[in-house]
Amino acid sequence: MEHEEVRMVRGPRSGLPVIVAVHSTTLGQAVGGLRMWHYPDWRDAQADALRLARGMTYKTAAAGVPKGGGKTVVALPSTVAASRRRDALLDAGDVIESFGGRYATGPDVGTSEADMDVIASRTRHVFCRPLPSGGSGDSSPATAAGVVAALRALGPLAGRRFAVVGLGRVGGAVASTLAASGATLVVSDVDPARRGLADSLGAAWVSPEEALTAEVDVVVPAALGGVLTAEVVPRLRCGAIAGPANNQLQDESVADLLHARGIVWVPDYVVSMGGVINAMAVEIDGVSAAEAARRVDGIGTTVGDLLEVADRDGVTPARAAMDRARTRLENGLVHSGRD
Ligand code: PHE
Repeated sequence: MEHEEVRMVRGPRSGLPVIVAVHSTTLGQAVGGLRMWHYPDWRDAQADALRLARGMTYKTAAAGVPKGGGKTVVALPSTVAASRRRDALLDAGDVIESFGGRYATGPDVGTSEADMDVIASRTRHVFCRPLPSGGSGDSSPATAAGVVAALRALGPLAGRRFAVVGLGRVGGAVASTLAASGATLVVSDVDPARRGLADSLGAAWVSPEEALTAEVDVVVPAALGGVLTAEVVPRLRCGAIAGPANNQLQDESVADLLHARGIVWVPDYVVSMGGVINAMAVEIDGVSAAEAARRVDGIGTTVGDLLEVADRDGVTPARAAMDRARTRLENGLVHSGRD
């Protein structure tokens, strides 16, 4: 068993499956958002929680943040009344509280900063509450800023072509910045209502499948995970892939397939670490918004370093990032060398 602890509860108020997975507290309290999403079966939700929690361990380690990795998943039915959804947040808050501070949550796919206030009525171990409640607020602008910093590390934005797969809170903000920076955009979202944003950005609107396989400089996966499979790799027509969607690779061997095709894949947990960097900078270290933004922007340097190390050592950026995270997990953050 790789995870330190996994708790699954049928929420007493909501009747919905609540899964909290703590992957590692080696570097500190496990952190990771609460995902509320639809799954065919609770076992799928559990598998997602395990994968996402693991990703958070590498995310915080790669970010140099003294935190571990965990995640909460609540499996929602296809339609859910607002009151039942609220009950599920309270149920999740109780399970999180039962960890006694070894795990703290935050927002993720399907949850907002307002939801963090609901959770806070059951536990204080929650990040990203709204600013008036004393939190650092919605993490998605910082996540998006980090994605843009990562993309800049791959080359100039102006005049280049990007495919943004998913126009949610993070993907939508990234697409807006890219458009404002003079990039050419192909975009998609499973929700047809997002087409208005695409039109306002002058972006071509295509299906998620077409966006993923578009002939562009960079594909930016910004929706759910598992999109990069052995089947899709031969059909890709991009030079690089860098986006915030967690767990993009169906399995780790896909990183090697991408490398063999000459496609640079920047690990998702590096590209997406802006949200957690910002929340920890503001809520733990108490730094100014400007200093937090500077730290988020440092993701560009991290990506540049990883690409350099990968090139020098003849390994994939995935391997270089994993080595960096593992070194920190084994030796702690202080003795991690040049970082
Ligand atoms: N959910 C986001 C992530 O996966 C951001 C986040 C998580 C922010 C936990 C704060 C705490 O990184």
